[in-house]
Amino acid sequence: MDNLIIETKGLTKYYGNTAAVRDVDLHVRKGEIYALLGRNGAGKTTIMKMLLGLSSISKGSIHMFGKPLDGNKKEFLGRIGVMIETPGFYPNLTAAENLEILADLRGYVKRNAIEESLEKVGLPYQDKKLFSEFSLGMKQRLGIAAAIIHDPEVLILDEPINGLDPIGVMETRNFIRALSQDYGKTILLSSHILSEIELLADSIGIIDKGILLEESSYEELKRRNMHYILLSVEPAETVIHMLEEELHVKDYRVTGKGDIQIFDTGIQTRDIVRLLAGRNIYVDAINKCSDSLEDYFKRMTGGEGIG
Ligand SMILES: Nc1ncnc2c1ncn2[C@@H]1O[C@H](COP(=O)(O)OP(=O)(O)OP(=O)(O)O)[C@@H](O)[C@H]1O
Ligand SMILES: [Mg+2]
Repeated sequence: MDNLIIETKGLTKYYGNTAAVRDVDLHVRKGEIYALLGRNGAGKTTIMKMLLGLSSISKGSIHMFGKPLDGNKKEFLGRIGVMIETPGFYPNLTAAENLEILADLRGYVKRNAIEESLEKVGLPYQDKKLFSEFSLGMKQRLGIAAAIIHDPEVLILDEPINGLDPIGVMETRNFIRALSQDYGKTILLSSHILSEIELLADSIGIIDKGILLEESSYEELKRRNMHYILLSVEPAETVIHMLEEELHVKDYRVTGKGDIQIFDTGIQTRDIVRLLAGRNIYVDAINKCSDSLEDYFKRMTGGEGIG
């Protein structure tokens, strides 16, 4: 695959005898928004920390910008902006004052950098409000502003939209998209909020219990896995056999209720109806369906939603 900004091979992290991350092959392409989706404890933060050299790797390798992380960490950190866990800010200073201190610490002095990064996340530069008076949404914005003051090519944002109210989520989504589209940043983020990720991500990685179960562009994922034909018919086993033999259906599953979901593209409902009618099998119902990302996530990981 070309244009890979982040690539891991067999990335693994053990804590004691337990693998928090196991054999993860991650591929983040230049300019895209890549969302890592997983429940609490799935391994999202651990992956991000390993990418940044904040956590050691048990096995596997990381390449960024086409070069190995080992030996290039210092160069990479200048090209990456990070928000992992709540960043520490001074409660008795304003947003701009907090960023000035950070910029000083990092030895970063580009004119207007602070004003520009605040503007990108929608915080007013002149605002006299102190950090201690910020809402959660404002704190998140300032965290992202802090991650972009040095104008990095890549952003790694751990849960940037969690805990926000619906308006805050929408606004954050909008400026994250603008950072990608207008400023060409490559963005790796993690989230629980699947309905929002549907509206934001170009690519999706589904991680569960440390394993990357699925990685694909969102468009491809929808095409392959989220649109299907739902067939209520009995006996399901006989019908499946016919579908396999006659229509070459390969990608299907039987739901808990005994209905058949057919994911193969290119199979028409009328072909199914015609086939079964010809065999004197009565179809109770046949529908074209679309899953939400939440439905798909549940199907992939088994069990409950992510929230
Ligand atoms: N320092 C540590 N020592 C031991 N175990 C750890 C440590 N950090 C994380 N873990 C374990 O590794 C697993 C993955 O944790 P991680 O924080 O990466 O998950 P996450 O997907 O980011 O979850 P969340 O959505 O809650 O942030 C969890 O089982 C966690 O308990
Ligand atoms: Mg986490």
